[in-house]
Amino acid sequence: MTTQAQILALALCLVSPALRAQGTHPITGRRIAPVMSADGADWLERSERESEERPKLALQLLGIQPGMLVADVGAGSGYYTAMLARQVGPSGKVFASDIQPGMIERLNARLRREKIRNVETFLATETDARLPPSSCDLILLVDVYHEFSQPQAMLRNLRAALKPGGRLVLLEFREEDPKVPIRPEHKMSVDEVRAELEPEGFRLERVLPDLPWQHILIFRK
Ligand SMILES: C[S@@+](CC[C@H](N)C(=O)[O-])C[C@H]1O[C@@H](n2cnc3c(N)ncnc32)[C@H](O)[C@@H]1O
Repeated sequence: MTTQAQILALALCLVSPALRAQGTHPITGRRIAPVMSADGADWLERSERESEERPKLALQLLGIQPGMLVADVGAGSGYYTAMLARQVGPSGKVFASDIQPGMIERLNARLRREKIRNVETFLATETDARLPPSSCDLILLVDVYHEFSQPQAMLRNLRAALKPGGRLVLLEFREEDPKVPIRPEHKMSVDEVRAELEPEGFRLERVLPDLPWQHILIFRK
């Protein structure tokens, strides 16, 4: 098991110097978290991640089907991207974007290594994930939304990329649970997420409580 101290140390230290967020959210006053550095990407790929966070269960609960077009925004080194690519299969596609070139390089290396060919990668900007309009059945943000430096602009952009009826899914560490061993600015409560997403045209459909540390929040456009 990764110890709580290790997790805290990582969350404290591995912050991208070029992407230190200073702002607060205009509606909730939430302090926006700094972006996790690509130098810390090994932590995203740690062997304990499956037992600690249960990512396979998360994707199972989302009902990812062959042929779907899914976007993994803030994909990091591609831990979720690779699983998504296998689930949507050759008739489906995954768009994966991240704001850090270092993460995109690691992601592309993983795709080459694992011979995954149904993923298109994009270098995002702080306001634009670079996804084609009305293209996605589902957009997944795993431990990412709380790092968006311009969350409102980004949400408008993501909304435009969803197909009618498409889902936006956030996995966020539960702020309501003091036992979740993550720094406070990297956690969010259900109320906070709702207060920020609903004004941008998203409706909270379900909150799944099944994961050990994270909420799964499912929104419809
Ligand atoms: C904690 S990591 C999670 C990575 C991945 N989702 C995972 O679970 O393995 C957060 C990622 O979000 C990315 N990120 C932060 N702000 C972003 C933005 N505005 N657009 C795209 N990616 C962003 C960071 O560069 C980082 O790779």
